[in-house]
Amino acid sequence: MTDFITVEDRDRVRTVRFNRPDKKNAITAAMYASLAGAIETADDDPDVRAIAFLGTEGCFTAGNDILDFLSIAQGGDGLGADVLRFLHALASSQTPLVAGVDGIAIGVGTTMLFHCDMALATDRALFKTPFLDLGLVPEAASTLLFPKRMGYARAFEMLCLGEAVGPERAVETGFINRIVAADTLETETRALAERIAARPPSALRLSRQMMRADTPQIHARIDEEADHFKSCLSSEEATEAFMAFTQKRKPNF
Ligand code: COA
Repeated sequence: MTDFITVEDRDRVRTVRFNRPDKKNAITAAMYASLAGAIETADDDPDVRAIAFLGTEGCFTAGNDILDFLSIAQGGDGLGADVLRFLHALASSQTPLVAGVDGIAIGVGTTMLFHCDMALATDRALFKTPFLDLGLVPEAASTLLFPKRMGYARAFEMLCLGEAVGPERAVETGFINRIVAADTLETETRALAERIAARPPSALRLSRQMMRADTPQIHARIDEEADHFKSCLSSEEATEAFMAFTQKRKPNF
């Protein structure tokens, strides 16, 4: 467990919060393990009927901790078992998932939204998937889910050019349901989760299963991307990108 992920159960909703604001809620291995545990245990808990992901004020998450990437590049092992456990937990969750995004949602902060059933965002939300800027490939089955959801050209723009997307465009491209005011995001996200939690659970579970019939393909793509990610992590260009980040300079590819 880590204090950087908080988990609270109330009124049949589990609220899972990124809570490391001084590092823009960047996600470490320990945080991935807590996130995975919060999703996996919800499926066996009849008192949890929906999960709501939230961040802190003005920040959902800046994605994977780049220092973790750097230590893996300098001799660690692959994408990391905890990251993969989290991604597979998202894909196989029987519990409906919603998210409320305020401010930045970078890397996995955006790709995880494609596993959510619904997501809200504030007018200052910003979605960015800069994997290639770091010499890496996309993860979380985003190479499958993004083109499906928004069409190839827009997916390419986000995943391969690292183009940032604002909330209006996120609604238009179909991965955010609606934009809400920043001061109501938490109550609206919880209200949405409670609404889902009040639906007849067996019928809802069956409906989700049919709507997510491509789940086996998603798991396979998560693993395929992870293999490529692993080889990219130790490349010269990725190491240069991580060093540049820690030294607060532009990378020299
Ligand atoms: N991993 C590790 N630390 C991170 C981080 C990340 N992904 N994102 C931010 N931080 C840390 C910064 O190093 C800084 O730490 P410091 O105060 O010890 O120097 C702190 O969080 C605040 O970040 P800072 O860059 O000063 O804030 P900002 O408002 O100027 O910029 C971001 C915010 C998110 C735009 C910028 O930090 C950024 O680009 N982060 C990297 C995002 C990324 O590429 N994630 C990986 C995706 S695959």
